[in-house]
Amino acid sequence: MKAILLKKYGTPYDLTIGKVAKPVPKHNEVLVRVHSASINDWDWGLVRGKPFVIRLFFGLRKPKIQFPGVDISGKIEALGSNVSSFEIGDEIYCDLSDCGLGGFAEYVCVPEKILSKKPSNISYSDASALPHAGVLALQGLVEKGKVRSGQSVLINGAGGGVGTLGIQILKSYGVKVTGVDSDKKLGLMKSLGFDSVMDFKKTEFTATGDKYDLILDAKSNRSVFKYARSLKKNGTYVTVGGSMVRLIEIALMGSLISLFTSKKLSVLILEPNKGLDRISKLAEKGQMKPVIDGPHPFDKIPELIQYFGEGKHLGKIVVEMDE
Ligand SMILES: NC(=O)c1ccc[n+]([C@@H]2O[C@H](COP(=O)([O-])OP(=O)(O)OC[C@H]3O[C@@H](n4cnc5c(N)ncnc54)[C@H](OP(=O)(O)O)[C@@H]3O)[C@@H](O)[C@H]2O)c1
Repeated sequence: MKAILLKKYGTPYDLTIGKVAKPVPKHNEVLVRVHSASINDWDWGLVRGKPFVIRLFFGLRKPKIQFPGVDISGKIEALGSNVSSFEIGDEIYCDLSDCGLGGFAEYVCVPEKILSKKPSNISYSDASALPHAGVLALQGLVEKGKVRSGQSVLINGAGGGVGTLGIQILKSYGVKVTGVDSDKKLGLMKSLGFDSVMDFKKTEFTATGDKYDLILDAKSNRSVFKYARSLKKNGTYVTVGGSMVRLIEIALMGSLISLFTSKKLSVLILEPNKGLDRISKLAEKGQMKPVIDGPHPFDKIPELIQYFGEGKHLGKIVVEMDE
């Protein structure tokens, strides 16, 4: 089968496209023929081995993982002997980030327990854009953020995967949502339903004096005290990603601030696929549709990861495998 191979840390152009043996599912796994995959920040980090913390998980000098790729959708082609909830031919989607990755390949073996059936009314391309970013948004806003009707919410980095899905999750909550991102994403954000938008290069949201009940951050790069000042009394700040130094600061100082004030500041650790059933229901009802950049051909994955890293994309970058 055809696969994208990661042999060393470097740049996305060090990835190669090769032929490898088709995998065989273990007892609790299914063999998926991948139809679509989407590109995530993990792919950008993994190919470069940056930030350094990536190497603590994936190998210090050389990646232990040979096949990258986090988000997939596809069709089940074979079943392990203990698989009971799925059948050959089922259309599925999932996030492979805690089971060895490998989504940028024609086939991948996936544990049954992490799979969800793809909503039948959405395309493979749309489905592959949802698991990682959709679940991050859901866990950040709903599980950890405990969003409630009538609140004022701000999403920082709102024009990316998490923000563009997060706003769709928030629609049923009756909240007022502000989105912060770069100028070129503001039109898209307004079209998705953000009540107000801000260009981070022109306006520093922590300096406007406005305060929010809930802040979801996909790009933490400010001091924890600035975030705390932007929260209302009893407000909550949840970050899903950003600069490593800032994440450590928020994890340490955030818990101290939470101890001594009514404000809660924390870092979300993603539990992959937890809540994907809720994303499926929203997609089935037509209440969640990802913004897609693509679909692009499979062979373009290395340059698309570079394009992702340079922030040139709009929405989720999706690739389709050759038929
Ligand atoms: N917590 C966990 O367990 C976990 C697991 C997986 C991933 N993550 C993290 O979760 C995040 C995923 O977010 P995502 O998929 O939405 O990423 P994304 O698609 O890259 O979106 C981030 C957005 O932030 C914008 N941005 C860049 N600098 C900014 C600034 N200073 N202020 C405001 N916005 C800025 C980006 O614009 P440009 O594109 O123009 O730069 C982009 O639109 C990543 O940080 C990832 O590392 C966390």
